[in-house]
Amino acid sequence: METVSSKRIAVTVNGERIEYDLEARRLLVHFLRDDLDLTGTHVGCDTGNCGACSVLYNGRLVKSCMLLAIQAEGATIETVESLSSDGELTPLQQAFSDHHALQCGYCTPGMLMSATALLRADERPTEQQIRKAIQGNICRCTGYVNIVRAIQAASGQAVER
Ligand code: FES
Ligand code: FES
Repeated sequence: METVSSKRIAVTVNGERIEYDLEARRLLVHFLRDDLDLTGTHVGCDTGNCGACSVLYNGRLVKSCMLLAIQAEGATIETVESLSSDGELTPLQQAFSDHHALQCGYCTPGMLMSATALLRADERPTEQQIRKAIQGNICRCTGYVNIVRAIQAASGQAVER
């Protein structure tokens, strides 16, 4: 039952429309991870700084720790789980693997979602555009070079290994 502090929302997550009763204060990242068990979306800071929680909201890149889940009412959300199907890696995911674009992997879901948003908008981004697109995603391990190479490779550009 809906109360002042709760609300029923209808939202499409990774292609599936669902209705859910939510506490008004629940963050979108916690709804995805804890209620829907979509734990590919990570929590690195809870303050909007690290980008580990990045998802697509109506096709636009957002940090899901910065939104209330009830703000997803009527929206389409895509998480990292939506990228591949039947266990097959997408070209972007394969490029991350081929170019050693991850070490601990904590930042990787957010990086993949930022890169996905970029590549949908621009099929062959420049290195500068790639760096700008991932500037909201902190990686503590890789130094970013291999991440940039992976995104270049995924867009069909020749890169060093
Ligand atoms: S957990 Fe959302 S930006 Fe770090
Ligand atoms: S691979 Fe460890 S934080 Fe990026």
